[in-house]
Amino acid sequence: MPKCRKCGREAQVYIGYAKLNLCSACFKEFFERKVRSTIDKYKMIERDDRVAVAISGGKDSAALLFVLRELFPELEMKAIHINLGIGGYSEECEERVRELLNHVDAELILFDLRDELGVSIEDFKNTVYGRRICSPCGTVKRYLINKLAHQEGATKLATGHHLDDVVEVAFNNYMHGDVNQLARLKPVLPSTHPKFIVKVKPLWGVTEEETMLYALHQGLPFRTVECPLSSGARSSGRKKLIHQIEEEIPGFRHTFLKSHTARILPLLEKSVGGAKLVECEVCGMPSSERTCAFCKRIRLAKEARQAS
Ligand code: AMP
Ligand code: FES
Ligand code: ZN
Repeated sequence: MPKCRKCGREAQVYIGYAKLNLCSACFKEFFERKVRSTIDKYKMIERDDRVAVAISGGKDSAALLFVLRELFPELEMKAIHINLGIGGYSEECEERVRELLNHVDAELILFDLRDELGVSIEDFKNTVYGRRICSPCGTVKRYLINKLAHQEGATKLATGHHLDDVVEVAFNNYMHGDVNQLARLKPVLPSTHPKFIVKVKPLWGVTEEETMLYALHQGLPFRTVECPLSSGARSSGRKKLIHQIEEEIPGFRHTFLKSHTARILPLLEKSVGGAKLVECEVCGMPSSERTCAFCKRIRLAKEARQAS
């Protein structure tokens, strides 16, 4: 039986990229120290911050909410969950979120798309998006978690994106040369308007595997089913590919991300300017066009619902 490298007890966790055996208690400490050092390095959370945490019902945001409470017992923290109205899938997500809030001390802010707007993400099936529903779904989620965080008076909005998520997004953006998106891919996205909350990614430095192990070892409730509408195949194909590169070049993901953050980002930030913002004529939120992307998508979903 392998032994924990820190305390010598029986190991229960193996961290592949670091060739590290740890027992459950030392792994908890290891994970929390890593997250803490990311938060401190990028000044993500300060003493008087009011933090909104976007939780999906999945393992990543469950681990995020739990680790933040462990690291900051006194922090003012609200958990935001959007019920997207995707049948049994969204029901399971909301159930897991409610269970999680029995483990973690934070106020739950729930937004149900069908109750509040009279549409669901499923309505996009009958629009031009057809099977590419993740795109409008992402727009709707991003808009709503920011708006709710703003309404709740939050000073920071935290999401559960981890190192593997970020590497995958960076990989795609580099491949397509999308410099605007690359310039926004950072651990802390500053606010460009009073109604846009500063966005932070405290799991930026931990891998998906570490996040999963943390959620499992702390016994956190999270969904085990995949979204029936998402084209998960493409994303998991990319993730597999990135893991294959990692096998050939150990440490690839960490090095790639470090190069992006420390070397490329400072140059991109100098050359990529932000869009001029106006108020959306429908909802009043800041937007680069007269009607914001969210209002356009919701209008489309409402039309599709009426037509069906
Ligand atoms: P995803 O885009 O599904 O990979 O999710 C990325 C992050 O967005 C998650 O880690 C959460 O922080 C947040 N998120 C995703 N779905 C929801 C949701 N339904 N409600 C609130 N936050 C969410
Ligand atoms: Fe957005 Fe499935 S959660 S399409
Ligand atoms: Zn709008």
